Amino acid sequence: MSSMLPVADIRKDYKLKELSESTISDDPISQFDLWWNEALSSQIDEVNAMTLATVSGDGYPDARIVLLKGYDVNGFLFFTNYDSAKGKELEANPQATLVFFWKELERQVRISGPVERTSAKESDDYFHSRPLKSQIGAIASPQSQVIHDREVLNNQVDKLSAQYAGAKLIPRPAHWGGYRVRPRSMEFWQGRPSRLHDRIVYHRQKDNASAWVIERLAP
Ligand SMILES: Cc1cc2nc3c(=O)[nH]c(=O)nc-3n(C[C@H](O)[C@H](O)[C@H](O)COP(=O)(O)O)c2cc1C
Repeated sequence: MSSMLPVADIRKDYKLKELSESTISDDPISQFDLWWNEALSSQIDEVNAMTLATVSGDGYPDARIVLLKGYDVNGFLFFTNYDSAKGKELEANPQATLVFFWKELERQVRISGPVERTSAKESDDYFHSRPLKSQIGAIASPQSQVIHDREVLNNQVDKLSAQYAGAKLIPRPAHWGGYRVRPRSMEFWQGRPSRLHDRIVYHRQKDNASAWVIERLAP
């Protein structure tokens, strides 16, 4: 016997906070800083988990979660396998959107813009900051490729662990590294009562890359 969950009946009224033009920062990175620090101090689980949306060369959208590993005025960083599905999509179409949902604060942030690979040094530094087993794991996994079974991974990990036993440094494989999303637009969404949410979007001005146009969008 099947039972229907009343999915359509699930709804929540948002009432925690407001977002106003009068208090918002002039630039979206400073605004992100404010929200990021509030998210950090709110003990949100996996606060740095974000949806990364990409589009393939032939126009098909794709999305998955990755972890934010840093941000500054130049953009937002994540690390992955360059040969993965997302790596191929970004090669063909170097544009992406990142989405954070911090439900404990009733907030969403969307960040869109061109994507570029991080420098080899940035990728090396982050790769070597990871636990050794994660470094081995990154080398062992042909991310997004079909594998016969889990043994394929286990065998590869055993082989690499033996190969690098006692090694001072495990070299970062060329197929693994970072990407930087340079924001062209950033939208901050704050849930409000009765579906009348606050949405403020920043668009980078074409002729002045450090100036932003700020607009309110209807929810
Ligand atoms: C919480 C969470 C964090 C993740 N972090 C990363 C990450 O930082 N980098 C990454 O390559 N994959 C990460 N993944 C796995 C991706 O969601 C995805 O399965 C993988 O990157 C392959 O995606 P693709 O086939 O679209 O390239 C994470 C998944 C979850 C659920």
